Parts: sequence; C-alpha cells; structure tokens
Amino acid sequence: MKRIGLLTSGGDAPGMNAAIRAVVRTAIYFGMEVYGIERGYAGLLNDEIVPMEMRSVSNIVQCGGTKLRTARCLEMLTKEGQERAVATLNKHGIEGLVVIGGDGSFRGARVLSEQYGVPTIGIPGTIDNDLEYTDYTLGFDTAVNTCLDIINKLRDTMTSHERISVVEVMGRHCGDIALYSGIASGAEIIVVPEIAFDIEEIVSKINHSRANGKHSNIIVIAEGVMGAEQFAKQLQSVTSYSVRPTCIGHVQRGGSPSMADRMLAAQFGNKAVRLLAEGKGNRVVGIRNNQIIDMDIIEAVSMKKTFNHELYETLQMISM
Ligand code: F6P
Repeated sequence: MKRIGLLTSGGDAPGMNAAIRAVVRTAIYFGMEVYGIERGYAGLLNDEIVPMEMRSVSNIVQCGGTKLRTARCLEMLTKEGQERAVATLNKHGIEGLVVIGGDGSFRGARVLSEQYGVPTIGIPGTIDNDLEYTDYTLGFDTAVNTCLDIINKLRDTMTSHERISVVEVMGRHCGDIALYSGIASGAEIIVVPEIAFDIEEIVSKINHSRANGKHSNIIVIAEGVMGAEQFAKQLQSVTSYSVRPTCIGHVQRGGSPSMADRMLAAQFGNKAVRLLAEGKGNRVVGIRNNQIIDMDIIEAVSMKKTFNHELYETLQMISM
C-alpha cells in the first residue's frame, strides 16, 4: 500500500492529535504517503484533502482537540454520500483509510470496507468509553481526570456550606465517565443509565452519611439519565439539605491528553498503520488486559456494551 488517508470523526477526544501524529509518522516509516482528510466524513465527501509530512504533526502530541477538525456527517449514511466518499478516495489514489472516532464513525468505516472494498482501520476515539471490544477508548482517561479536577473543587465549597452537589458528566448512553469519576473522586452516589435509581434510597444514604459525620455529598449523574438541574430539583423536593447542580459539559472534551491517552494514541496509531502495511483492512484496534489488539470491524461494532457492576458495587461499599 503506497498511499493512505486519515480522518477524525464524531465528537473530538483528547489524544486524537497524538494518534494523528503516530499514524503519520508510522506511515512515513513504512514509506507510505499520508493524506489528511479534514472535517471527518464531511471533508471526504467534499474533497478536503491535505498531504501530511513529518513536520505537519510536530508539536501536537500534547494538544487537545484534533488538528484535522471533525464533524458529524449524516450524508455518510446515504448511498449517494458513500459513493462521493469513495470517488474522493479514488481521485487521490488513496488505497487505505484510518478512521479515528466512536461507534458512529465506525459504521462509516464498516460501509467503506464491506460495501466498497476500501481497507479501513478504526481507532476508538471518544471520551464515552462506550465500545465493548476495547477496555478503554482514546480520550476517556483525560475526560475523567478533567471531571475529577472539577469535582475536587466542588467538594471544597460543598463541605464549607454543608451542601449536596449534583454533577452531570457526559457519556451519551454510557455510564462509564460517571462510574470512574465517581469512584476516583470519592463521590457518595453515582446515577447511571444502566441502573435504575430510587430517590428515597438516595436520600436515606445521604441522611446516613450525615449522621456519620459527613458535611457534604457528591452525586455524579450521567447525562444519559437526566440533566443535573432536573435531578437537583427532584432531590431538593425530598431533602432539607441544600442541593446545587453543576453540568461539566464540553470542558471535559478539551485539554491536553493524559499520559494514559498519549500512550494509547501512540500504540493505536502505530498498530493501525502496521495492519495496513501487512495488507490487512476492515479491522479496529483496541486494548484488552493491557495488550493492544485488533479485531474484525463488523464483530467489534456488533458487540453490546456491558456495565461493570463489580465497580459499581465497589463504590457502594467504600463511598460512605
Ligand atoms: O460522544 C462524545 C460526546 O461528548 C457525548 O458524551 C455527548 O453526548 C456528545 O458527544 C455531545 O455532542 P455535541 O458536542 O455534538 O454536543
């Protein structure tokens, strides 16, 4: 394979730039040319292609966001859109593609591989950690660390005022950001889409913790359940402690990637290009039990995400 394309798609995630760098540098190592496709599949449909050299990716390993920019592209779901995408690849002689993004982006990659025969490798880049086949997605660790920083600050002021903080984190339909930031921040309660909540039970946990000497409570709620404001209102109607909502929002999608995300980016990017160099396509890369793995893209996208109930129970046991 002599020429490959690279795009980032869907919501951005810290570590995407480090992955772009790893893809470009590995491709150059194997003597391939790399074309960057701007604005995800939208740029592929509209022929927004830039050649990338060794120096195009200098000084970006530490940067959040994505140098190639990104977009959510509904046209890629249509046959006409897909044909335009393939026409752009053919026009530039691009023989293989690396797609960095989440499950929506992988669906586009799957179509290109399966229906149009374009060897495509997916790198899981999303803060949501909502892909079953990989233990971690790129950007999740940094996003959780950003949430922790904010929750630490909330704990200060909540303790001074003896309040309850309801903190909303992202994750779409997945509760992993809430689960990990809840455990790591010492939150008393997490509310996730995977487990039904009972407001009376939450109130009784809060009362129990106050009776045992606590001066504040942190509740981390995943956006897939409801917004912090709505939940805080509901809770305020059944407790006399003062409740304050905070929505962390898009802050958790930005910032310099953590060491863990930079390491994932380096390994995912490198592995993706190695696979193309070996003539393989239609695969995704990931990490399982600390080993970098690759898997058939169709198999990977059809796996249903499971929730880690053991971690949830751990939180229940150590949080009070
Ligand atoms: O998929 C990443 C994510 O940040 C989700 O957690 C969130 O639901 C969504 O994207 C927000 O999307 P947008 O940036 O388009 O508002």
